[in-house]
Amino acid sequence: ANGGDSQGGDDHQLRVSKIRSGTVIDHVRGGQALNVLAILGIDGSEGEELSVGMNVPSDRLARKDIVKVEGRELSQDEVDVLSLIAPDATINIVRDYEVIEKHRVDRPEIVDDVLSCPNTGCITTGDEPVTSQFEVLDDGVRCAYCGTIVREEIASLIDT
Ligand code: CTP
Repeated sequence: ANGGDSQGGDDHQLRVSKIRSGTVIDHVRGGQALNVLAILGIDGSEGEELSVGMNVPSDRLARKDIVKVEGRELSQDEVDVLSLIAPDATINIVRDYEVIEKHRVDRPEIVDDVLSCPNTGCITTGDEPVTSQFEVLDDGVRCAYCGTIVREEIASLIDT
């Protein structure tokens, strides 16, 4: 009725379409959606159907991001690594348009082959065929090889 407003009438909330089946990662900290995709190793280059909403209003968080992956049910092990950058994330498994499972992310003890060590002298950053491994601390992560601790900016260690 109000012609031309693609956001639609009085509804100022951004809507990302429902998915038929797959995984909805909800309540992601505002601004972290692209890091969520990066940490999961999902970049759309394999034709995955993805929807991303960023900085949308939320009751629980001031602003939230939301990531929807159509056609793929992510396992708890896959999503737990997200606790490093999106500790309040809710994982919804959708089948036939219904949420059939909803769970939170748990902090893993160890994160393998997802983050790269910022220490250029670390064996994991050289030419050796050694994959990265970090121990998860209460307030950061510690490289299992050289002991470097990163507390802030964990997202900047994401291997892309
Ligand atoms: N969702 C979706 N496609 C579906 C079903 C749900 O994209 N077929 C999304 C919803 O948009 C919502 C999330 O999955 O972002 C969780 O859906 P639901 O549990 O129905 O919503 P809420 O009850 O609001 O979830 P919560 O209590 O976790 O905030």
